[in-house]
Amino acid sequence: MKLVVTGGAGFIGSHLADKLVALGHEVVVVDNLMLGRKEFVNKKAKFFKVDIRDLKKLNKIFAGAEAVFHLAADPRLQVSIEDPASTHEINVTGTLNVLIAAKNNNVKKVIFSSSCAVYGNQPLPIKETAVPQPLSPYGLHKLIGEQYFSLFYKLFNIGSVCLRYFNVFGPRKLATGAYPMVIPIFLDQRKRGQAMTVVGDGEATRDYIHVSDVVEANIKAWQSSIIDGRAINIGSGRQVSVNEIARFITGPTTNLPARPGEMRNIEADISLAKQWLNWQPTVTLEQGIAELKNN
Ligand SMILES: NC(=O)c1ccc[n+]([C@@H]2O[C@H](COP(=O)([O-])OP(=O)(O)OC[C@H]3O[C@@H](n4cnc5c(N)ncnc54)[C@H](O)[C@@H]3O)[C@@H](O)[C@H]2O)c1
Repeated sequence: MKLVVTGGAGFIGSHLADKLVALGHEVVVVDNLMLGRKEFVNKKAKFFKVDIRDLKKLNKIFAGAEAVFHLAADPRLQVSIEDPASTHEINVTGTLNVLIAAKNNNVKKVIFSSSCAVYGNQPLPIKETAVPQPLSPYGLHKLIGEQYFSLFYKLFNIGSVCLRYFNVFGPRKLATGAYPMVIPIFLDQRKRGQAMTVVGDGEATRDYIHVSDVVEANIKAWQSSIIDGRAINIGSGRQVSVNEIARFITGPTTNLPARPGEMRNIEADISLAKQWLNWQPTVTLEQGIAELKNN
């Protein structure tokens, strides 16, 4: 079966492409390598160095595809605050292009990588029914994307599922480059014998989900009977503070000023993912960190 993975040279997309190849599918990766790495692209996948802002090229590449996993984005929250227009072009117009190309090619289903950034500060645990209040253009871009998916289902019967990932961690998540993520940064600092840089008071919490579980959620969403573009939380259902991560990793810490546009406390309610996708997390934060420490 021909399956397209946009953003397949990136952290999550490359793991997803690996899994789809392992399952025996014909996998096509679309990525402009703005943030991804060619060496992450599975050797058995067909690779197109193409920008999702180029609808003409997407139209050709999507021909004959059964499903599209849309992960390509500029996910750098701080960049979206500094430069909302150019990130909008990628995250909103690019996503619309993916939908139009899917429609033009009668693709049966598109799985959209959305984000918990759509929520903003909410009572915990965060349920899908919470009224979104994004704190950054990035969060708003994802919300607009989701709405396009549900609209394209209503207007054109394009099947889709939107997955709102919480904080994804695991191998290939880089400490440098794209955008900051506390686990690889702390592991890198520890390796170099430096103090771990805690942003703010370190009591901000996140819900960490292992990349292998996110890959599984994508596959289950594709295989599920859901087609109406609804949004589903993909997290662990547990909040962990930055200070706790530092304690798991062990070593000295130092504090940096807090950053604007970031949510304070995050914990997903994952009951709908369990109910609708028959999905649940399998790798704990402690297991995932232990695996990363040994590599
Ligand atoms: N990592 C997380 O914790 C997390 C959380 C919530 C949502 N997400 C979403 O999941 C998806 C994958 O995230 P990731 O962590 O793997 O990020 P990533 O930056 O590693 O991957 C994104 C990929 O998209 C590619 N890309 C960017 N702009 C493009 C364009 N115009 N055309 C073609 N390709 C382009 C990049 O080169 C990169 O390979 C993104 O949509 C992101 O918003 C990630």
